[in-house]
Amino acid sequence: MKVGLIGTGYMGYPMAEKLLEAGYELVVYNRTSDKAVSLSDKGAVVCETFKEACSLSKIILLMLSDFNAIKSLMDQIDLRSLEGKQIVQMSTIAPDESINLFEQLRAYDVDYVEAPVLGSIPQIKEKSLIVLFGGSQQKLKRLNKIFKSFAKKIEHIGKVGDAAAMKLALNQLIVGLTTVFSMSLGYVRASGLEVEKFMDIVRGSSLNATTFDKKFNNYQNRKYDNPNFPLKHLLKDLNLILDAFGRKSINIETLTGIQKVLEQGVESGLGELDYSALYEIVHANTPVNNSPSTDKRISDKR
Ligand SMILES: NC(=O)c1ccc[n+]([C@@H]2O[C@H](COP(=O)([O-])OP(=O)(O)OC[C@H]3O[C@@H](n4cnc5c(N)ncnc54)[C@H](OP(=O)(O)O)[C@@H]3O)[C@@H](O)[C@H]2O)c1
Repeated sequence: MKVGLIGTGYMGYPMAEKLLEAGYELVVYNRTSDKAVSLSDKGAVVCETFKEACSLSKIILLMLSDFNAIKSLMDQIDLRSLEGKQIVQMSTIAPDESINLFEQLRAYDVDYVEAPVLGSIPQIKEKSLIVLFGGSQQKLKRLNKIFKSFAKKIEHIGKVGDAAAMKLALNQLIVGLTTVFSMSLGYVRASGLEVEKFMDIVRGSSLNATTFDKKFNNYQNRKYDNPNFPLKHLLKDLNLILDAFGRKSINIETLTGIQKVLEQGVESGLGELDYSALYEIVHANTPVNNSPSTDKRISDKR
């Protein structure tokens, strides 16, 4: 069975390698062909166009930046040509966007399921990614072996839209934990306190999250040039989270502050770096004086 993989970026490329290792006949396409071409040495058929990749595959995995990327590719083809094929949407997109694709494709008898993932490049390499599946149990059963090429856990979340929603709930934790940890670490360093002592206390307490240690060296060395997940995608996800959470009447005030931090990061050229580079905005090398002004507090009292 020929499997197509569309998008050989940070995630798609190692996923393609794992599918080839597992023995799948793989067809790949990437808008910037340079990023896909070396997969032909590993046994993949590298296509020049999205149309060609779709025509050669029965099951088509999408691992693209966002909804706009998916739409712009879909706009290049006649959707009737996808009839009878299985689209597996694995990018992080909003629940509404996923449902929109599902409905649009259903009109052409194209089967659409969603399977966003938790984990990054190291987890693909270790085959320990977590796949969140939105679609019927029966379809999951058919796709299970493909997912097993790079994943350890495959969770059936519910119908199309549910897995996308679960993914946003999980990514909100990445956004939130990274930002609040950066603030405390920045404060400890700026106060001249012992960073290792701070970390020992955190690690030995119920406050700990393994993600703190995962990025610790990046913060310590202020180096973020080996990204698994770039800051620009974290901002993309936060914008999806703000919209989706807001629609469910979750108070998003805290997140709008973090949105400003991430926007500032992207505007100042950190977008392509690892998302932990948000530390540079939270605790800049050149301190930003944003403490409440003493003069103001005095004048308020008067
Ligand atoms: N990286 C992670 O750790 C991670 C983890 C979990 C989920 N995700 C999600 O997985 C998805 C892929 O992430 P990634 O890190 O692999 O991103 P990436 O390296 O930036 O790759 C994005 C892919 O989308 C393509 N693309 C973007 N805009 C396009 C357009 N208008 N038309 C056609 N193709 C377009 C890119 O093609 P070009 O090469 O031509 O730009 C590339 O193939 C994202 O939704 C991300 O949020 C990422």
